[in-house]
Amino acid sequence: MEPLGKLRLGVNIDHVATVRNARGSAYPDPVRAAKLSEQAGADGITAHLREDRRHISDRDIERLMAELTLPLNLEMAATDEMQTIALRHRPHAACIVPEKRQEVTTEGGLDVAGQEARITDFVGPLAEAGIRVSLFIGHEAAQIEAAARTGAAVIELHTGAYCDFHYAGETAKRDAELAALASGAALAQSFGLEVHAGHGLTYETVKPVASFPQVMELNIGHFLIGEAIFRGLEASIREMRRLMDEARG
Ligand code: PXP
Repeated sequence: MEPLGKLRLGVNIDHVATVRNARGSAYPDPVRAAKLSEQAGADGITAHLREDRRHISDRDIERLMAELTLPLNLEMAATDEMQTIALRHRPHAACIVPEKRQEVTTEGGLDVAGQEARITDFVGPLAEAGIRVSLFIGHEAAQIEAAARTGAAVIELHTGAYCDFHYAGETAKRDAELAALASGAALAQSFGLEVHAGHGLTYETVKPVASFPQVMELNIGHFLIGEAIFRGLEASIREMRRLMDEARG
């Protein structure tokens, strides 16, 4: 069998900023983490500028744009404020995610099917500005079909439920979720969408997703930043890179 193409790894540095903000201090610095991620083999950096600025700040985005050589994937909600910020900075990519103030993380995919016209209007100016727009969605066919009609170039499939079932020991549900993600990836590719995946991925859960032939990029953050406590950031990323490459055969 032909080996699959190399899978890109986007390292999400939000939780370096979470630790910094826990004390309102200047450190640890997420931009330093981004530079170290590059040395460790990351292909891109992901940062989520949340509406409440609970981790990444506007200044972090400015600095990432100025100091990074890797492409920046700016995660953001579909709001006027975020669209203005994205158009000002013109990052390589923008990943549109749903956002609720009360959630601890991005709990579900974006409901593109339920607000297709609004999302289409939102994607347009970003795509025209040369930003690669990605929609963070679940694996449901209706969401993938709607995403394909919005003009977005990319979808990112939400792997959170698959990972949660794995750690809950619910293997039948985990495997069903994985099968649904695989079908979703194939359907998306049939519409000409580039497929990414992410949320909740760890050393234990990454390989099955990394082996989907349609998936071109994984975005991983929380686990890597946590693992960095024990083995250092570079080593934690290198091990993820190794597992991804192994899964690609
Ligand atoms: N992709 C998207 C769209 C996300 O919202 C997140 C979390 O910010 C991730 C990937 C990374 O998820 P995790 O931090 O659980 O690895």
